[in-house]
Amino acid sequence: MIQNKEKIRSLFPYLQSAGCGGRQLIYFDNAATTQKPRSVIDAATRWLADSNANVHRAVYGLAAAATEHYEAGREAVRELINAQAREEIVITSGTTASINLLANVYGQRYIRPGDEILLSEGEHHSNIVPWQMLCERTGAHLRYFSVKEDGQWDMEEAERILSEGKVRMVSAAHISNVLGIVNPVAELTVLAHRYGAVIHIDGAQGIVHAGIDVQEIPCDFYSFSGHKLYALTGTGVLYGRRDLLETLPPWMGGGEMVDTVTYSSTTYAPIPLRFEAGTPNFIAAATLRPAVDFVTSIDIAQVRKNEEEMTAWLMHEMNSIDGLRIYGAGGHKAPLVSFTVEGAHHSDIAVLLDKMGVAVRSGQMCSEPLLNKFGQTGVVRVSLAAYNTMQECEVFISSLRRVLEMLR
Ligand SMILES: Cc1ncc(COP(=O)(O)O)c(C=O)c1O
Repeated sequence: MIQNKEKIRSLFPYLQSAGCGGRQLIYFDNAATTQKPRSVIDAATRWLADSNANVHRAVYGLAAAATEHYEAGREAVRELINAQAREEIVITSGTTASINLLANVYGQRYIRPGDEILLSEGEHHSNIVPWQMLCERTGAHLRYFSVKEDGQWDMEEAERILSEGKVRMVSAAHISNVLGIVNPVAELTVLAHRYGAVIHIDGAQGIVHAGIDVQEIPCDFYSFSGHKLYALTGTGVLYGRRDLLETLPPWMGGGEMVDTVTYSSTTYAPIPLRFEAGTPNFIAAATLRPAVDFVTSIDIAQVRKNEEEMTAWLMHEMNSIDGLRIYGAGGHKAPLVSFTVEGAHHSDIAVLLDKMGVAVRSGQMCSEPLLNKFGQTGVVRVSLAAYNTMQECEVFISSLRRVLEMLR
């Protein structure tokens, strides 16, 4: 069990390097994507060199090895989220792909005109647009329950809408990529089921900062991106309860998702391959194994405690800055803080912080409706990972103060 922060940092080549163009930034944009541990980079390089062959097709040894690595990635995810069976783990290219897949297959099978799909007001575009597209296709309606001023969900409103009995699907973020609050997804799962709806949880941020046990929180679907969890980009997961997944039709047609094909018709493969048409991003997906091994090798309780201390300290310091507003100050915070400052534009703040060596995100965060609700066109976001330190937080805060002196 790795407890020491220096030891964790030593596992990440970026943090040991001179950085891009000789500038190593304090990397505070981990909600967008994380840096990669050496084990992930090395495994991908090794597999490209010694076991590169298409998966699930050929009988020769090389192909068998590639398939084994790919399936080991799936098994790693099953273990991580405590799914009952590997068939419940559909490998996709990311959260966006997972939600589009779900909206299409669930929509095709179960959503009818007049049905309702319920989201929170705090969703990423990836968890809004696929449902809007589904509603356009089917004549279903999209409803939203409120995010309160402090960023927390209005659970009473969620229940009120559910109790009307028309909601078939609830889809909401475990942790919003703007507000950083760990949402009460267990409670929402109970409510959804009580009123006859199924629930999908967007775990893009939640898998990293809260984790999920899908038997303890029996959501029907859970999606996330590998690249935010230290694996390579172009990897993602849609977990689905086996009995439900088995009832769903495929979305994309092509190789590997079939049982038999004639010129006139096709029968489909069992889950999960039914949903994995074509050649997958197999080497990247295989890095889910070393990525999960990294996550489970660190003392996660210690990392979370440390992240809570850094987040509390950051928020305390930010609150002492005149005109600074934090979005999502209530509830249990993940290490993800979005803010605006009166008299300073969010992108100017981010550009100047970059010049001072700190990488933060600025803009709409792919959450335009939520930002509109708060009357903003953009925010600045800092988001931490297991390798960030209090010392980096201190540099960030002193840099932010200097930036604001320059801008105001
Ligand atoms: C909450 C949330 N949902 C969905 C996504 C989309 O993830 P991806 O771009 O990896 O598909 C993100 C990405 O930041 C996110 O934070």
